[in-house]
Amino acid sequence: MTTADQSPRILGIVGAGAMGRGIAQIAALAGLQVLLYDTNPDAAVTARTTLATVFDKLVARGRLSEADAHAALVRLSPCESLKQLGPCDVVIEAIIEKLDLKCALLQQLEAVVGPDCLLASNTSSLSITALGAACARPQRVAGMHFFNPVPLMKVVEVIDGLRTAPATVDTLMQLARRFGHTPVRAKDMPGFLVNHAGRGMNTEGLRIASEGVASFAEIDRIMREQAGFKLGPFELLDLTALDVSHPVMESIYHQFYEEARFRPSPITAVRLAGGLLGRKSGMGFYQYSEDGQQIQPPEPLAPFTLPARVWVSRAQPAAYEAVCELIPSLGGVLDTGEQPSDDALIVVTPFGLDTTSAAVGEHLDPSRTVALDALLPFAHGRRRTIMTSPATSHLSRDAAHALFAADGTPVTVISDSAGFVAQRVIATIVNIGCDIAQQRIATPQDIDLAVTLGLGYPMGPLALGDSIGPALILLVLRNLQALSGDPRYRPSPWLMRRAQLGLSLTQDES
Ligand SMILES: NC(=O)c1ccc[n+]([C@@H]2O[C@H](COP(=O)([O-])OP(=O)(O)OC[C@H]3O[C@@H](n4cnc5c(N)ncnc54)[C@H](O)[C@@H]3O)[C@@H](O)[C@H]2O)c1
Repeated sequence: MTTADQSPRILGIVGAGAMGRGIAQIAALAGLQVLLYDTNPDAAVTARTTLATVFDKLVARGRLSEADAHAALVRLSPCESLKQLGPCDVVIEAIIEKLDLKCALLQQLEAVVGPDCLLASNTSSLSITALGAACARPQRVAGMHFFNPVPLMKVVEVIDGLRTAPATVDTLMQLARRFGHTPVRAKDMPGFLVNHAGRGMNTEGLRIASEGVASFAEIDRIMREQAGFKLGPFELLDLTALDVSHPVMESIYHQFYEEARFRPSPITAVRLAGGLLGRKSGMGFYQYSEDGQQIQPPEPLAPFTLPARVWVSRAQPAAYEAVCELIPSLGGVLDTGEQPSDDALIVVTPFGLDTTSAAVGEHLDPSRTVALDALLPFAHGRRRTIMTSPATSHLSRDAAHALFAADGTPVTVISDSAGFVAQRVIATIVNIGCDIAQQRIATPQDIDLAVTLGLGYPMGPLALGDSIGPALILLVLRNLQALSGDPRYRPSPWLMRRAQLGLSLTQDES
């Protein structure tokens, strides 16, 4: 069998579609001989022609020498029959996502390749153990899950099936490094790492929208400009398209036996049925212009009239300090009494609670109470979210909007929601990341690596939880669970224990 110190030289790729072509590109550039086979006889030849054009472009941009481009192209050979893959050290299959077809292919490959050849599947949703079970030698079968577009997405999930030999995965991890990619190692569980960890953002965004808390665009703006993500959940869904992402949401939910944390939303089911797929259909959560530009709905202008004075709740001492520092810098006057004066705007800073519960719980006048999300540090230009209760007067809402926008920082006003928008989405992402660690699907380091490289989040879920504080994330989740009664917010034991012990979420058990 090929081992870690006997680097594979000949790589077979079956399936010359988007993924097979991408894998062929990075493998040929890394110096491997690549044999490319597809049941569609034109596909492998077309893939080579397309890659020749890609290499030409890289040469024109100065990213590749002409000699290297030529050598890489020479190493790429389309094959007319599967039998030509006989000399391969490793074969990666990237055919369509159907278990029976992939099993049949692996069986055919076993009859063609040598006993030491490793067989890897690029499946994004099928069980590696099930694929291995179809083979005579399941110990040589593993997952090697690349992301699209392969040359740009520098992470590969390497997956152990239950009967995969550790040496198989070690060799594939080495191979991924040779491609210039970062391998992360994951157990064979639905969604592996990236698609599992990615459940939080979309399902919670949809849940917030379904409660009428804010519009799709407002939720996206908060996630981008307050929470620091590159894309909000609805921009992301428009990009991946609902015909892809809705079935994935349903599949992962069912594969985890209706785990509430992954519950999909009827919002996407209805929109999918209506053909509002996203960017590719020209209509999704956003409208798109003829040239494909996303049309952003306009934002309401901030009012100008500041409140006479502002009383801040002391229920959350750190948030109280931060808001008391912010308000004078915005031209606001603080009301520092134990109780709010009769003309004061009341600002509460709950974690995981809604404005209603905070006002009622603290015996405050709900008509003058507005909540401000204080989970993340305030900074000039970093979007702020304020939240009303059904009893908050328009006067108080507008005064709060004027105040928190007085330095030109954008403000989003949302309806009542336990945990605003950012708190809910962030706590959900952290909690799911913690549970992936708890289930020992991957190491804490690999979970964070997979999420930053595979999903482009500013931080991995565990590092994100640490940056805010595990105890605060736990508080958000506990309050969310208490108020909603929904088990999707039940905190992972990984988070609960580390929050109580004052440990980092990246701390594994020794
Ligand atoms: N596209 C993505 O974003 C993405 C990302 C990660 C993983 N994947 C996975 O990668 C695999 C391939 O996806 P894709 O997007 O490249 O698909 P694709 O439809 O672009 O290409 C699949 C290719 O496989 C060929 N094929 C089908 N059956 C075959 C067989 N029995 N033998 C040989 N060739 C066969 C088809 O002719 C086609 O050229 C799937 O398992 C998919 O789940 C896709």
